[in-house]
Amino acid sequence: MRDFWTFGSAGQIVFGRGVSRRAASIAGRFQPQRVLVLSDRILQKAGIVSPIVTAIRESGVEVAEFLDCEPEPATTIADAAIHAARQVNPDVIIAIGGGSNMDVAKIVTAVLTHGGTYSDYFGHEKIPGPLKPLICLPTTSGTGSEVSHAAVLTDTANHIKVSTLSQYLRPAVAIVDPLLTVSCPAKVTADSGIDALTHAVEAFTATRFDELEVSPDEPFPYCGKQPLGDCLAERAIELVGRHLETAVREPRNLDAREGMSLAALLAGLAFSNNAVAAVHGLEYPVGGLVHVSHGAGNGLFLPAVMKFNLPARVPELIRIAELLGEDLVGLDGNAAANRAVIAVERIRRAIGIPEHLRDLGVKPEQLPELARKTHAITRLMLLTPRRPSEVDLLQILEECF
Ligand SMILES: NC(=O)c1ccc[n+]([C@@H]2O[C@H](COP(=O)([O-])OP(=O)(O)OC[C@H]3O[C@@H](n4cnc5c(N)ncnc54)[C@H](O)[C@@H]3O)[C@@H](O)[C@H]2O)c1
Ligand SMILES: [Zn+2]
Repeated sequence: MRDFWTFGSAGQIVFGRGVSRRAASIAGRFQPQRVLVLSDRILQKAGIVSPIVTAIRESGVEVAEFLDCEPEPATTIADAAIHAARQVNPDVIIAIGGGSNMDVAKIVTAVLTHGGTYSDYFGHEKIPGPLKPLICLPTTSGTGSEVSHAAVLTDTANHIKVSTLSQYLRPAVAIVDPLLTVSCPAKVTADSGIDALTHAVEAFTATRFDELEVSPDEPFPYCGKQPLGDCLAERAIELVGRHLETAVREPRNLDAREGMSLAALLAGLAFSNNAVAAVHGLEYPVGGLVHVSHGAGNGLFLPAVMKFNLPARVPELIRIAELLGEDLVGLDGNAAANRAVIAVERIRRAIGIPEHLRDLGVKPEQLPELARKTHAITRLMLLTPRRPSEVDLLQILEECF
């Protein structure tokens, strides 16, 4: 058991419409000679990468670009990025993109700083010390990778997502410019938005820090439900309830975009301190098995896991229902808590997130193996407030089939 909690963040957060224009001067604070920008071709075509690269070049700094990042990056992408980065040997790394590009940049930064290869750092707290400065500019509103201690790759050989978790992975600076998200297609807005909601809900309903069955001296990547993370999660849930559907329907609605950028940032701070739990645990093997975005996979499982956790988290779920604008008059206890599940199901349907595993190409005979792989992610099981057995997980998978 633990009698303390901690809180980590990016070194600095710079938030505001148009603030990506300051990227060159922010990078300049680190007095770099060579900067490596990691992004992808879609963002280059969207006109998001060039203005940042040009401004850095005009400030007199050499810039190299790696634009071959891909969604849900496989370990092969990390290999290619590391190879390119070693040729450049930059002193500052800049990631422009969603969680996929930011996570590749985190892995590249760790390997450039400490040598070895990406798999040396899989698991938690395997990175031996601070990293070269990493600046992240998120272009989706979802993962919170711009402030988190996590980087996720897809191990295509073993069909599972693999996490690297380390306090040293928190970027030096997060530059959060809602204008960079305006070009997100509706599906990317929806998928990444429900990921942010999942982060906030899992953080807010996780096992409490003082009930976590982990020795205080053992390195553990999350500290469990704690008051500072809770404040951020509550605000993030409220913002998602207010802005996600509008951001999906009206991509140019800047109030909705700004609301979602803030929601994703706050949810990223909440989950990367408190926890993610069984929803992410179920998504990791499914995401490794079939082609589904991380956000859509989480959205598929979120209501079922909330329902499973309900007996252990009635007050928290009532609060979530309130934050999502549910009318709870005349309801109490389980009925009021269940309104949180209903609200999430409503949002999910409104933004077009898949509701059945069979629609993703999962076969019924694959469910037991998925349950086994999820159950084996011990850290996420310990952080789930109602501890699921493998049989419980199989039941959730069958319910979501
Ligand atoms: N490190 C963390 O803390 C963390 C947390 C949650 C998820 N993740 C990981 O992040 C990844 C998912 O990231 P994501 O949801 O941000 O999506 P993404 O980065 O995979 O991007 C999805 C697609 O949207 C495109 N895109 C992104 N921004 C755009 C924009 N502004 N305009 C047009 N197109 C745009 C990208 O080019 C890409 O093709 C997964 O690999 C997931 O495992 C990481
Ligand atoms: Zn997530």
